[in-house]
Amino acid sequence: MKIDIISVVPALLDSPFSHSILKRANERGLLNVNVVNLRDFSTNKQKQVDDYQYGGGAGMVMMAEPLANAIDHLQQTTRYDDIIYMTPDGTTFNQQMANRLSMKENLLIICGHYKGIDERIREHYITMEISIGDFVLSGGELAAAVIVDAVGRLIPGVLNNETSALFDSFQDNLLAPPVYTRPAEFKGWKVPDVLLQGDPKKVDDWRHEQSLLRTKNRRPDLLQND
Ligand code: ADE
Repeated sequence: MKIDIISVVPALLDSPFSHSILKRANERGLLNVNVVNLRDFSTNKQKQVDDYQYGGGAGMVMMAEPLANAIDHLQQTTRYDDIIYMTPDGTTFNQQMANRLSMKENLLIICGHYKGIDERIREHYITMEISIGDFVLSGGELAAAVIVDAVGRLIPGVLNNETSALFDSFQDNLLAPPVYTRPAEFKGWKVPDVLLQGDPKKVDDWRHEQSLLRTKNRRPDLLQND
């Protein structure tokens, strides 16, 4: 999968994809993330990418022209399955969206700043608008990093044990059960016996029970969505 990201602060995206699982995904040729600096597509000397909003009011708006130039340029070599705009008024991201996006070949993500992007870009280029939650970030970069992380780890071959993503919280509308590692007793706190007894069926039943319990206590709304 290839993910291109258009940003006015590309440095914000230097690090998130250079470590751990996403780094491995890149090394294995499974995920290629490419950050493009919007200022490179500005047509004026000051490399301006924002301007005052029509009708007045505080806050700048990202201009249509540099964005259109950047998207047109990238589209010359890549056919995108989706052109995504990160915005707090988009559809709230969830695991189901991550699953769906992980099956795409090429994605383009636009990171908004200031008051947002000129509406005409949303109307004529954007195919999907995503929010990562009901709060406002200072820009779309960190939100884009969240999407790339959640999607990237689902690409087949990225996780070492491919089945492990199947048991993530939310994959079956249930939260994940508690997990433990050695030692079996720490400060007098014991690992549940069932996990030490070596009966896989009992372990499965216990985990499912714990998942249900945890979901009921913490996120009862998930159980009603079935
Ligand atoms: N940009 C600013 N806030 C955002 C949010 N909550 N989700 C996605 N993009 C954003």
